[in-house]
Amino acid sequence: MTDITILITVAIFPSNSIQSSTRSGGIIQQLIDLHCHIVPGVDDGPATWEESTQLLRQMKEQMTRPAVLVATPHFRLSTSGRVFSSQSKRILEFLSFANRLRIEDEFSVLAAREVMLDRWRPSANALDVLCLPGTSWVLVEHSFSMPWIFALLRIRAVLKQGYRPLLAHPERYSWCRTRPERIGRLSELGVGIQVCAKSLSGTGVTAETAWRLIETGMVHVLSSDAHHPGDKLLSEELKHEVDRVAPGAYNLLAGKIPEMVLNNCELPKLPLTT
Ligand SMILES: [Fe+2]
Repeated sequence: MTDITILITVAIFPSNSIQSSTRSGGIIQQLIDLHCHIVPGVDDGPATWEESTQLLRQMKEQMTRPAVLVATPHFRLSTSGRVFSSQSKRILEFLSFANRLRIEDEFSVLAAREVMLDRWRPSANALDVLCLPGTSWVLVEHSFSMPWIFALLRIRAVLKQGYRPLLAHPERYSWCRTRPERIGRLSELGVGIQVCAKSLSGTGVTAETAWRLIETGMVHVLSSDAHHPGDKLLSEELKHEVDRVAPGAYNLLAGKIPEMVLNNCELPKLPLTT
């Protein structure tokens, strides 16, 4: 790893320990969004700084405090180091911009990547700079058409390298839609399961699967996966929708368990009981 890469990595992924805030009167639950695409011009998220700023403004309006947002641009395992470096520079610019507002309103912004498992196995240490900040948890996805057995093999390869996969949006994968009990198997292996707020809109099979996973306690983390202004975000409105289906689940999925992830903890086996 070059010096410049180390410098960028340290700046993007500061060693941090996320803890519940305390105020007179007790512990305030943090709201933590572990998955969003808000860095401009690096993936299929905002194309411009203006669009990125508008999305950030909506998040600051809708997310209760204290809040932590982790920007996770798409990144392919097969991508070259040069692309990684240029993307990292843009992420640093975004963090610098976003965190100017950090202290006064208890809204922190961190960064990692959403890693597409488009290689059979990551090479040694390849995921070090892609993990969620200060942890061995790495947000992963695979192609929508990938059959279960190949998805399982790729996820197991990540585990074998000593990382903890947090699987993004299983509700979009056909292997999950047809056999949701496979989520339990992944959980037994130590995989975290992350459902997206944007999947909960609408009436299609993705929404049905996402809601079924929440209802049956087969989810660890609820994140926005927001790409553009107007996308569904973590909010009081979403809290009511989720808690109506699984009472008490929202604070777990959008607060307590994401906090465990950022503290690099092992997650409870699914199903969760609230
Ligand atoms: Fe995403």
